[in-house]
Amino acid sequence: MNRKDDHINHALKQTTKANDFDKVRFIHNALSGGRLEDVDLSSQFCENDTSLPIYINAMTGGSEQAAIINIKLAKLANHFNIPMALGSVSAALKDTKWEASFRNVRTHYPNGFLLANLGAEHLPQNAQKALDLIKGDALQIHLNAVQELIMPEGDRDFSQWETNIQALVRQLNVPLIIKEVGFGVSLETALKLKTLGVQHIDVSGRGGTNFSVIENARRTHQYESFNDWGLSTVESLLEMRNIDNMHIYASGGIRGALDIVKALRLGAEMVGLSGYFLHLVTTYDLEEAIEHVATLIDEIRAIFCALGVHNIATLRSVPFILTPDLDYYVKARTKQ
Ligand SMILES: Cc1cc2nc3c(=O)[nH]c(=O)nc-3n(C[C@H](O)[C@H](O)[C@H](O)COP(=O)(O)O)c2cc1C
Repeated sequence: MNRKDDHINHALKQTTKANDFDKVRFIHNALSGGRLEDVDLSSQFCENDTSLPIYINAMTGGSEQAAIINIKLAKLANHFNIPMALGSVSAALKDTKWEASFRNVRTHYPNGFLLANLGAEHLPQNAQKALDLIKGDALQIHLNAVQELIMPEGDRDFSQWETNIQALVRQLNVPLIIKEVGFGVSLETALKLKTLGVQHIDVSGRGGTNFSVIENARRTHQYESFNDWGLSTVESLLEMRNIDNMHIYASGGIRGALDIVKALRLGAEMVGLSGYFLHLVTTYDLEEAIEHVATLIDEIRAIFCALGVHNIATLRSVPFILTPDLDYYVKARTKQ
């Protein structure tokens, strides 16, 4: 079976019930004074204006099934004019027969903000090919060492990643986002990325799609140590409060409107959803999927209004508390 199909099928078996977003609580304001019609959800992604603070994060391309999913995602993104990242273009770089499964997204979303995606083992030449294929507006480079180590056929040598990232920063003329794939980004990693010239990080933490579980399901003998590995998205966002001059995006385990607003409150400029959109487009037809996303957006607006804020800037001063274990995490990391 094609690896991308394996990933899609295993990801579809995963559902996220509880995660660290449950450990962040807004303080209710019974006299919020909000007015729904004043709520403005606009933000910036890679320093481009966006009317909504959400995007479809990297998933597919590179199989027949992926091609169908990509077209559905593109139509959904086009309807709401939200940015969309495509799955790793490496499959099309290896075999040109898969190029259309990526290129078709641009056909169905001609004016959209599209992000190409590749692993950090790639050099600028491949990155440019990936961008050209979809007329990409930005590039995501994923850091997925844990996934590769568990993947039976995965890479085992990550020693060139920093050099490659530095070359990408220097040679590309589009914004570059460095992202994880569900294991989070620590302050130390973010500071290192900053020294390499990186200005955009998607923390993509633990709490949603779990690639350890997915890759373990593809192995005969499991590496169980990694099943609970990594920083949650909330932990990563709390770490990112200690870095400046860095654009922070949140993904990993975003289940709905409240998680989106919490991620924005914790400092994310935009919030990416993968598993959510994958389930949506494989469960519903386009019209029903549009209704679900419309409700999601209405609910985000309702939460802003309930909190008495009218935009992301004012949301950033809304009071919240962390449960004791998360609070302990923050204190322990501050002491280090
Ligand atoms: C089926 C599937 C395929 C994915 N493929 C990629 C990929 O090619 N490149 C990448 O950077 N991330 C990939 N991801 C990871 C997501 O972009 C995201 O980081 C991760 O799923 C956590 O978000 P979630 O909890 O909302 O799913 C994939 C996720 C899924 C579900």
